[in-house]
Amino acid sequence: MNEPANFSNIHKFYDFINSLVTLGFDKSWRKEASKYLIPGSVLDLGSGTGASYRDLMSFDVTALDPDTQMLSLNKFNKKVVGKSEDLPFSDNSFDNILCCFVLRNVENVQRSFNEVERVLKPGGKFVLLDMTRPKNTLLKQIHKIGTYLVLHLIGIFTLNLSEYRFLYFSLDKLPAPEILIEDITLEPKFLKRIGLFGFVYLGLFEKS
Ligand SMILES: C[S@@+](CC[C@H](N)C(=O)[O-])C[C@H]1O[C@@H](n2cnc3c(N)ncnc32)[C@H](O)[C@@H]1O
Repeated sequence: MNEPANFSNIHKFYDFINSLVTLGFDKSWRKEASKYLIPGSVLDLGSGTGASYRDLMSFDVTALDPDTQMLSLNKFNKKVVGKSEDLPFSDNSFDNILCCFVLRNVENVQRSFNEVERVLKPGGKFVLLDMTRPKNTLLKQIHKIGTYLVLHLIGIFTLNLSEYRFLYFSLDKLPAPEILIEDITLEPKFLKRIGLFGFVYLGLFEKS
C-alpha cells in the first residue's frame, strides 16, 4: 500500500474536507461517540486538529497526535506529541480513551490496542469510531467507486493526491470491524455500524 498519509500537508483544510466527504455527518458521529464516555479524564487518541473539542468540553482532555502541524490547530490545553503504539503515560492513567478516524493510519494496530488497555484505568471506557467498507458485496462495490472518485478528485483539486489516495486505500487496510475487534482484550460492550450503507462503525469497550 501507499506510504502513511502525511497529515501535515493537509492540516489546514482537513476539517473542511472531512465534513465534505462525510456530508457533515462526521460531527454527529463524534458527538454520538462521546455520549459513551464516563465523567473524568479523556485521552483523545489521534486528536489531530481537535475535531472533538466541542463534544469534550466537560472532560479533562489530553490530546495526543504524532503530527505537530495538526496539533498546532488543536484547541485542547494539554497536547502531547506521540503515537498510539508507544503511549507516553503510566499504567491506569485515563478514565476514557476516544479514538475517532485514526486506526486506519496507525502502523501497528495490535500494539496500539495493548497500549490502550495499559493506560486505561480499571472500569475505564475505550470508544472507537472509524470508517470501513459496507458489509454487503454490492454496496461495497458502489462505496469503492464513490470513494475512489471523490477522494481522487479532492486530491487533485487540493494538490495532495498522495494523501487522499492513502485515505482511499486505507479503507481496505484493516479487516472488517467485526473481525478487527477480536484483537481487543477489553470487554466489548457493543459494536454497531452507522452511516450510509453502514460504512462507519462505533464500538464501546471496558477495562475490567
Ligand atoms: C483522520 S485524522 C483524525 C483526527 C481526529 N481524531 C478526528 O476525529 O478528526 C487521523 C489522525 O491520526 C493521527 N495519527 C496517525 N498515526 C497515528 C498514531 N500512530 N498514533 C496516534 N495518532 C496517529 C494523524 O496524525 C491524524 O491527525
